[in-house]
Amino acid sequence: MNLGIEGETALVVGASEGIGFESAKALLEEGADVLICSRNAQKLEAAARELKASTGRAVRRFAADITKAADVGALKQWISDVASKLDILVNAVGGSRRALFEDLDDAAWLENYEFNVLGTVRVIRAMVTFLQKSGAGRIVVLGAAGARMPYPNQVVSNVHKAGLIALVKTLGVEFQKYDIRVNSVSPGRTLTALWKTRAEQIALDRGITVDAVIHEFSEEIPMGRFGKPEEIAAMVVFLASHKASYVNCQSILVDGGIARGLI
Ligand SMILES: NC(=O)c1ccc[n+]([C@@H]2O[C@H](COP(=O)([O-])OP(=O)(O)OC[C@H]3O[C@@H](n4cnc5c(N)ncnc54)[C@H](OP(=O)(O)O)[C@@H]3O)[C@@H](O)[C@H]2O)c1
Repeated sequence: MNLGIEGETALVVGASEGIGFESAKALLEEGADVLICSRNAQKLEAAARELKASTGRAVRRFAADITKAADVGALKQWISDVASKLDILVNAVGGSRRALFEDLDDAAWLENYEFNVLGTVRVIRAMVTFLQKSGAGRIVVLGAAGARMPYPNQVVSNVHKAGLIALVKTLGVEFQKYDIRVNSVSPGRTLTALWKTRAEQIALDRGITVDAVIHEFSEEIPMGRFGKPEEIAAMVVFLASHKASYVNCQSILVDGGIARGLI
């Protein structure tokens, strides 16, 4: 299938590893010109090398922390220096903190809000001017299945990722004046650094092996296994493509069937 994005310009934020990295890779494979961003400059450089080695295509990169307004301002300046427009924006930054409600204070809630919601808002606000110039801009943000089927011990990200569904629904309408579509992908459990770190912590807390944790959490998934980051990225790239030209305001689950609700 030709996704029709060859020669287009895409910015992937949170691209040094995991779902963002695989999204950048898939966009490169489809012929897009890809710009990547995340916090750690060394990790970003290694990701750029790996992308070049696997796709034969070079990426340009910029280190920024989207929980910091000044960094997002610097990212905006860099984009205006290196690109005349953006056709695609992917934000793959986010995550969750495993904790019970009673163990979370205001600071913990605010920290997670910056990470999952305000960072995304800042990036979109900074990039909308470049996406307008596309004439058919697309925004894809990473949500989570936990917003549709709240996970135990993850109240803070359940709440904030649900907020992203509302953001996508709102902006997909508001940005029609700019011909920008806005969607999100809601992954289920996916084997990235995020889940590996979580599995290590659970293994430590419970005195079991990491493999035992992964096995136990896999059993709750109808497909019996975790997702691979490239399986999530495939949906990201589809939504970012012209093949999804009538898909707007949606949050699409890619979760092996774990979220059981009808809607
Ligand atoms: N993996 C899962 O099971 C799962 C499940 C549901 C939803 N999701 C969602 O899918 C998205 C991607 O998850 P993932 O598992 O691929 O995450 P990951 O493996 O932790 O990778 C996150 C990426 O974002 C970058 N990053 C982190 N904080 C950042 C910040 N403040 N500013 C800029 N870049 C930042 C990281 O690089 P640096 O550290 O160098 O910044 C890295 O490149 C997230 O929104 C997550 O909530 C994942």
